[in-house]
Amino acid sequence: MIQREVIDNILSTARIEEVVGEFVSLRRRGVNMLGLCPFHNEKTPSFTVSPAKGIFKCFGCGKAGNVVNFLMEHEHFSYPEALKYLARKYNIEVEEEEQTPEQIEELNEKESLFNLNFFALQYFSRQLLETEEGKAIGLSYFKERGIREDLIRKFQLGYNPKRRDAFSKHALENGYNKTYLVKTGLSVESENQLHDRFHERVIFPIHSASGRVLGFGGRILSTEKNRPKYVNSPESEIYNKSKTLYGIYFAKTAIIANDNCHLVEGYTDVIALHQAGIENVVASSGTSLTHDQVNMIRRYTSNITLLYDGDTAGIKASFRGIDLIVEQGMNVKIVLFPDGEDPDSYSRKHHPEEVRSFIAVKAANFILFKTKLLLDETQNDPIRKAALIKEIVLTISLIPDGISRSLYIRECSALMDVPEQILMNELNKKLREKFKKESPALAQETDALPVSPAEPVPIQPFDPNSAEYQEKELIRLLLLYGQEMIKLPDGNEPPQEIEVTVADVVIHLILSDELSFENATYQKIFNELVKAREKETTPERDFFTGHPDREIANTAVDLIFSPYELSRNWIKNNIMVETETSRLQMHIRHSVLAFKSKKIEKMITGIQQKLSGPITPEEQKTLLLSLRELKEQSIRINNQGLGRIITH
Ligand code: CTP
Ligand code: MN
Repeated sequence: MIQREVIDNILSTARIEEVVGEFVSLRRRGVNMLGLCPFHNEKTPSFTVSPAKGIFKCFGCGKAGNVVNFLMEHEHFSYPEALKYLARKYNIEVEEEEQTPEQIEELNEKESLFNLNFFALQYFSRQLLETEEGKAIGLSYFKERGIREDLIRKFQLGYNPKRRDAFSKHALENGYNKTYLVKTGLSVESENQLHDRFHERVIFPIHSASGRVLGFGGRILSTEKNRPKYVNSPESEIYNKSKTLYGIYFAKTAIIANDNCHLVEGYTDVIALHQAGIENVVASSGTSLTHDQVNMIRRYTSNITLLYDGDTAGIKASFRGIDLIVEQGMNVKIVLFPDGEDPDSYSRKHHPEEVRSFIAVKAANFILFKTKLLLDETQNDPIRKAALIKEIVLTISLIPDGISRSLYIRECSALMDVPEQILMNELNKKLREKFKKESPALAQETDALPVSPAEPVPIQPFDPNSAEYQEKELIRLLLLYGQEMIKLPDGNEPPQEIEVTVADVVIHLILSDELSFENATYQKIFNELVKAREKETTPERDFFTGHPDREIANTAVDLIFSPYELSRNWIKNNIMVETETSRLQMHIRHSVLAFKSKKIEKMITGIQQKLSGPITPEEQKTLLLSLRELKEQSIRINNQGLGRIITH
């Protein structure tokens, strides 16, 4: 944990234009700076940095935040990592948490394994490029497969000689420890002898996202039947196959720039696609994607294109696995290569341009692809078609986003020639089953409720009198002026003026009537503000625009950036003159009262609706009483002056 004061110090020292300027070339435009957005491809700049407000926003893709969010988004730092980066840049000392001796030892051991792997990488590479045996056997193998020398160097490919203990002996001679040789799996021990796991194989080093060597894959050169084609480093403290993606280090920039990641099966497929100019590609190394691997890709993009060898049986077998990717909120596309070809073999037979256009043209949305493929097999057999509907709807039900679900239901209904409502009913059934499984207690409570079909959500027209608008105005007011001091009469006779912050006034007004926000993010922002005020601190704007909760940060930035704003000229050096005070006061008063009367109006409508339904005379009486109370409250609010509300 970094101390709060240190965080505050870092945030107030860091200049957003300086930090962003290291990654994006910015030029001044009015009070803002403008550049090409690093988060999506664009030709005209819409990426805006406001040095005064300490925030950035891209009006093209919507990414927004403060300097910390920028680093988290661009460099994929965690929150503390971003802070430490800034601390280093601005020479601010950060006290680290103390580490236990066990933690230090673990760290040392990991470092030793990484060191050894790096030593091995250099050895294998030298063997491949500089020795007779390596050139004759390893290098000629790669050349025969059509891998260019620049790619061999980029991916740091290597060769482990024939002699069974060549590397192990070399490593021991250089002072490397036997324990680590065995732990990394570079050496295998039998009868007290070390020999090389990868002997007589070409080597594919496996890099972490930050470029460190986690392990290796080694391929045999001949078509020997009695040795496996590939051997890989065993699991170790630094290599965990299910959390690793081959090629991620060389792909991440291209994944971000293209907002898409290609997924292939093998080492050679990754290299072949790079050679064809497609650099946003990683391999799962022969297994289906794990949850951790999907999460890793999702740090960079939510779009994934799976490249498959062209046999449909193989694809059908992986449908379940792909469902898991859909379930994690990714948009999945699929490309089928011609029968018997993988991306590597296809690339060897076609021009790079052809490879690229083949992938672009063939990429089909997974859900529609699956629907078509299975539909072809039903051949109008009604029983098989019913099974197909269930199968497709199951996949759709896994999509986290409701709007996407509705859209797929519509498209699949057209494809399958089945009424949308039938699919909708099936979808609701599935969602309900899922809900029951995930929260059985809640499901039991609501079991009595009828299941209603999911209606498409109508898009609300913009209405300045809506409750949503009033809520937004109030939060915007808090974000922009929460820290300003205003003077109010204290309610004594004769009245004395007291100084309070805008935040305190608004919080008091809302809490005193026990009102809440319908918009969950606004409520979160409000709660955070209340918490901070309880501790007698006024959060700086940065507190919200740089909040680790992305929803809060994005909303705050949007509100602050939105065009309508009270003129800053009203406030000079935090001391406001008479007339300026009263204008801000009027604004607060207006926003709070509008917010409140909207809430009360809504409650009144609710009661009136209940009154028109079937109710008992007792219920009617209670409702009428509440109605009267609310109406009185509404009149009171509309007649109240701000000063009196705060001091009553
Ligand atoms: N794989 C493995 N162990 C094996 C076979 C395969 O780890 N015994 C992994 C490798 O990462 C390999 C991937 O699965 O790259 C895909 O396997 P396969 O399609 O058999 O190999 P290719 O990548 O096509 O390799 P090559 O073209 O060299 O035959
Ligand atoms: Mn292959």
